[in-house]
Amino acid sequence: MTDLDELAAASLAAVEESTDEKSLEALRVRLLGRKGELTGHLKNLGALPAEQRPAAGQQINLIKNRLQNAIESRRQTLESNALDARLQQERIDVSLPGRRRAGGGLHPVTITMDRITQIFRAAGYDVAEGPEIEDEYYNFEALNIPENHPARAMHDTFYVEPGTVLRTHTSPVQVHVMERDDPPFRMICPGRVYRCDSDLTHTAMFHQVEGLLVDREVSMADMKGAIVSFLRAFFEEAVEVRFRPSYFPFTEPSAEVDMSCVRCGGTAKAKACRICKSTGWLEVMGCGMVHPRVLEMSGVDPVEYSGFAFGLGVDRLAMLRYQVGDLRMFFENDVRFLRQFN
Ligand code: DAH
Repeated sequence: MTDLDELAAASLAAVEESTDEKSLEALRVRLLGRKGELTGHLKNLGALPAEQRPAAGQQINLIKNRLQNAIESRRQTLESNALDARLQQERIDVSLPGRRRAGGGLHPVTITMDRITQIFRAAGYDVAEGPEIEDEYYNFEALNIPENHPARAMHDTFYVEPGTVLRTHTSPVQVHVMERDDPPFRMICPGRVYRCDSDLTHTAMFHQVEGLLVDREVSMADMKGAIVSFLRAFFEEAVEVRFRPSYFPFTEPSAEVDMSCVRCGGTAKAKACRICKSTGWLEVMGCGMVHPRVLEMSGVDPVEYSGFAFGLGVDRLAMLRYQVGDLRMFFENDVRFLRQFN
């Protein structure tokens, strides 16, 4: 009987000390299983004198019941502890601020390109495209820049193979369009161009938009009107524009277009202006009346038709519009810079 009491006390203590359901189950098997300690005592009842058996049997059963109850209640405690621990671990603080999804955006050069295109489309211009890998003929000869012409030196050309270049300007698209279709023409060609050149204000790849308008009786006044209207629409300001005589092999006469500085407007502040180097003027594009030879080579009769062409640098216009000081920022793709244009 004393043995039994000790066994009961030790067993109950063990149940209370068990820390997980698995060891509790092992304990149950060790005490109450078919070969368990308490079961062993029950089996041994037969060895007792007959008059002691009922009392002993009763006590063993009592202990058995108490143990069963203790194990069950311990099991429930362990189970609910485990659940509490899991809930604690998986807790979500719904009051924390959410993580935003990073939104994409268009590149400033793309935005500028789209804007230029939109302005010319509204004025009735079509959009044409041409190849970036171009025949030397289209890039040079057909634009009245024959071999050994000094103007070739202005284009630091990448040669893909003899006779084939990465186009150095978008002007060759004029030729493709004029060869393919019949006049009148009123179109722009935006695109990437390449020159073997790289410094603060030059990158080996940059963007241009070429413009071409060919019809009967087109004059230089039409060209000036088109360009002034475009620049005022693009900068949303009544900028001053001046046409400076210049030279391009594919236009005659040719001009370079300057506009009043977007920063200082050519006023007294100009003294300290870094953008226009205190001249008050910014050079923004080249233009001219399409050379009769260029029309002729592309199958357009220069007696019946005349036209104007212009070429502008998109990256430069983007720099001026957004007042970005370093061209290379457009190509470094630092998201902190790019995000500002979203
Ligand atoms: N193609 C010239 C360049 O890349 C830009 C240009 C100047 C285009 C005058 C023209 C033009 O159509 O008339 O430097």
